[in-house]
Amino acid sequence: MISTDKRKDSMKFAIILGTRPEIIKLSSIIRELAQKKEDFFIIHTNQHYSRHMDEIFFKELELPQSKYNLNIGSGSHAEQTGKMMVKIEKILEKEKPDVALVQGDTNTALAGSIAAAKLQISVGHVEAGLRSYDRTMPEELNRICADHVSDFLFAPTERQKKILVAEAIEKKKIFVCGNTIVDAVLENQKLAEKKSKILSKLKLRPKKYLLLTLHRPSNVDDKNTFENILAGLAKTTKELKMPIIFPIHPRTQNQLEKFNLKLPRQIKTIKPIGFLDFLKLEANAALCLTDSGGVQEESCILKTPCVTIRNNTERPETVEVGANILAGTDSEKIVYSTRKIINKKTIWKNPFGKGEAGKKMVKIIKNEKTPKVSVLGMGYMGLPTACLLAQSGFRVFGIDIDQKKISNLKRKKIKTSESGLKELFEKAIKSENLTFHTQIQPANIFIIAVPTPSINN
Ligand code: UD1
Ligand code: UDP
Repeated sequence: MISTDKRKDSMKFAIILGTRPEIIKLSSIIRELAQKKEDFFIIHTNQHYSRHMDEIFFKELELPQSKYNLNIGSGSHAEQTGKMMVKIEKILEKEKPDVALVQGDTNTALAGSIAAAKLQISVGHVEAGLRSYDRTMPEELNRICADHVSDFLFAPTERQKKILVAEAIEKKKIFVCGNTIVDAVLENQKLAEKKSKILSKLKLRPKKYLLLTLHRPSNVDDKNTFENILAGLAKTTKELKMPIIFPIHPRTQNQLEKFNLKLPRQIKTIKPIGFLDFLKLEANAALCLTDSGGVQEESCILKTPCVTIRNNTERPETVEVGANILAGTDSEKIVYSTRKIINKKTIWKNPFGKGEAGKKMVKIIKNEKTPKVSVLGMGYMGLPTACLLAQSGFRVFGIDIDQKKISNLKRKKIKTSESGLKELFEKAIKSENLTFHTQIQPANIFIIAVPTPSINN
């Protein structure tokens, strides 16, 4: 379990999450905050609440319990979002965090970002700048609103930065960091290979089955569309002579029952599964069929070809690198797309970064939010002052025109007979808040420590 010990000088982070993908995609940030002993707490809206959509991920990813569970549950969009905002606002007023982090495009992300922004709390949006340009999707509206009230927009790639700049968002608020899904995959893939027994449990052989997820309202809330998709999947499994494994989302299960639809025998439904089992299934599948955002990214990272059962995607880089194909919902097009991609060489490069996104985001927020002080003159007054400020949590630039002195300080060398200064210097360096320069650095506060006139001068 991640420790929640705190540093004395740390700023306060609120993590607002509510659904399966948010728990997974915020896990590396939570881990980094805990490792750096930052002061943070989790607000869980419980938009997802079934054990297999919620608790299992906290357990598997060894995340600390949420401090607040809002028990919002299911409901219409306005009902869910409105109830969340009312409760989130009260908590934020009480806790007064310096920054609130939300992820992605869910109603939780929308409610969290707006409630925080209206209280003048800085908002960090993880996975900013994605656009499907399809405003019939609730997610598209959510992500646009969250982006436009955010102060830190964490774009996975340069593409999303361009999109945001074109929407008149100030460049200085946008940070290209990669996608935290890479962090989550890399942190858990080996563990999944080792621990998960899902292949033997389901009697599956690597590359001899297809993996399916489906939960977009446009696909499963409309009976005709849902039927077309199922017809396409039935033809696909017949043509490829491979079964389809279908961990079924609760929305989709409800809709199947409501429309009284029967699945072909070769489509094997199972309950939603944990992240480790799912990663193992994804990595070993011949192909993923999906309408999920996260699954498009993960299959690209894991080098499993993907057919996306949608007409558009806000992850076009997966298509560009050749890992993904957009099939729409027409049954023939699904079969055709599957045929086209299944034997493709999996030589593409993952476009979403190296798995350090969470670490980068925490560092950026800390750096941007910490008051900056330039101390001019690294003499017997300036240096101890800079050390004391750095140790107390300020970001300090120690400046001197004497190049030799600065290069010695950069090499952590100081000559001093002043009692305690060496120890103080070492602590300040360890805090990573103190750096040395020969040029004046932009800062909120400037302290000028010029040589003191003395009778010997
Ligand atoms: C939500 C997000 C979607 C995200 C998806 C991840 C919005 C608008 N949608 O869609 O962007 O891709 O989560 O999975 O925020 N249900 C349960 N148990 C649960 C959760 C849901 O039974 O733990 C059932 C309920 O009947 C509910 C339905 O699933 O009405 C849909 O849940 P909801 O959270 O409204 O939307 P998702 O389809 O999960
Ligand atoms: N996932 C999982 N178990 C499942 C299905 C999906 O752990 O049975 C994970 C998957 O690895 C991915 C995330 O859930 O990280 C995707 O969530 P979902 O498809 O619900 O939402 P989206 O990404 O579309 O927002």
